[in-house]
Amino acid sequence: MVDVTEAGELPDQSCLWRLKRFLISEFNTWSRLEAMKATGKQLPKVYVTRRIPPEGMKMLQESGICEIEQWDSDDPVPRAELLKKVSGIQGLYCLLTENINEEVLKAAGPSLKVVSTMSVGYDHLSLDALKKRGIRLGYTPDVLTEAVAELTVALLLATSRRLIEAVDEAKNGGWGTWKPLWMCGNGLTQSTVGILGLGRIGVAIAKRLKPFGVKKFLYTDIDRRPELAATISAEFVSLDVLAQQSDFITVCCALTPETQGICDKRLFSKMKNNAVFINTSRGAVVNQEDLYQALVNGQIAAAGLDVTVPEPLPVDHPLLKLKNCVILPHIASATVETRNAMAALAAKNLLAGLKGEALPKEVPL
Ligand SMILES: NC(=O)c1ccc[n+]([C@@H]2O[C@H](COP(=O)([O-])OP(=O)(O)OC[C@H]3O[C@@H](n4cnc5c(N)ncnc54)[C@H](O)[C@@H]3O)[C@@H](O)[C@H]2O)c1
Repeated sequence: MVDVTEAGELPDQSCLWRLKRFLISEFNTWSRLEAMKATGKQLPKVYVTRRIPPEGMKMLQESGICEIEQWDSDDPVPRAELLKKVSGIQGLYCLLTENINEEVLKAAGPSLKVVSTMSVGYDHLSLDALKKRGIRLGYTPDVLTEAVAELTVALLLATSRRLIEAVDEAKNGGWGTWKPLWMCGNGLTQSTVGILGLGRIGVAIAKRLKPFGVKKFLYTDIDRRPELAATISAEFVSLDVLAQQSDFITVCCALTPETQGICDKRLFSKMKNNAVFINTSRGAVVNQEDLYQALVNGQIAAAGLDVTVPEPLPVDHPLLKLKNCVILPHIASATVETRNAMAALAAKNLLAGLKGEALPKEVPL
């Protein structure tokens, strides 16, 4: 903890201050535990539904304020096990793979105070059921914005410049002589990019795309977002105009009852034939049947998806057979730093909820 230099100098003030802070926090935790033991009180129980990145687990363990039980696996907890384990807990740490609905909250009982999801999306939780019981909800915005935006740009380029198809051709002997029209795709220079849902991630994507020479950004949302739009000089338009004018559409909205299936044959039929469609939000915003038809019929040029319904998409799914559809297995936030930051923020939210403090990132219910 304390650095002493080779010359035997005394540690500096900041070192001493950090040591003092560490000792005080250890002492507080120890006293709290001792006090609980003395009064025969049990620590609040917390259930963690998956093996999570180390930063998050370390934070929960070192807090000393809760008794942790975990589904220690990389695969989701079976529903029956989840329903059994949540009984009597005060805090639930979950992932986007768990449907936290009336059934789970009922199984948990009245002790449950806080649910913390290691995701920015919260469409897998029943907000009404949480609100009804006064349970608070934590989520992980901001810490994943950059990683998701970066992956969206990578997916857009892979789709529009046909990278996966081209790599396959190089490997499988399809690479003949250099041909003027072979493997041609669509470039971003002088293009119009349409953003469906201009939130944190939408803006971060636009900022990364701008240096590619994009001529114009359009966006549509529930309302105009003048401050965010000004940072990327984006113009507010209706969904129809976005479809008609964009060379690239990137979907960045939250999944809600209003956005469920919003990308359907009506939308695809209005898009340009050379347009590229990208979705890194949630699979259910797209009607996949309609997307398949649009790709097969040449209604649009190509699609890149990081999210699908269901997940995983069955390997024999028709969309996986198309050359003009690039599908990734929901990896938009998958950098080591980001996943650790998400796990840590979700842990902070949970611990704050257990202590009855303000959550660092709380979904207003
Ligand atoms: N693929 C991944 O791994 C991954 C990772 C992170 C986030 N996501 C998804 O991305 C979404 C956006 O994240 P964010 O941090 O930018 O959230 P955000 O809340 O900042 O942005 C979401 C935007 O969608 C808009 N929106 C909501 N309903 C709409 C509607 N009916 N029509 C048009 N726009 C609408 C909101 O007004 C908001 O501007 C998340 O909800 C999540 O589902 C996916």
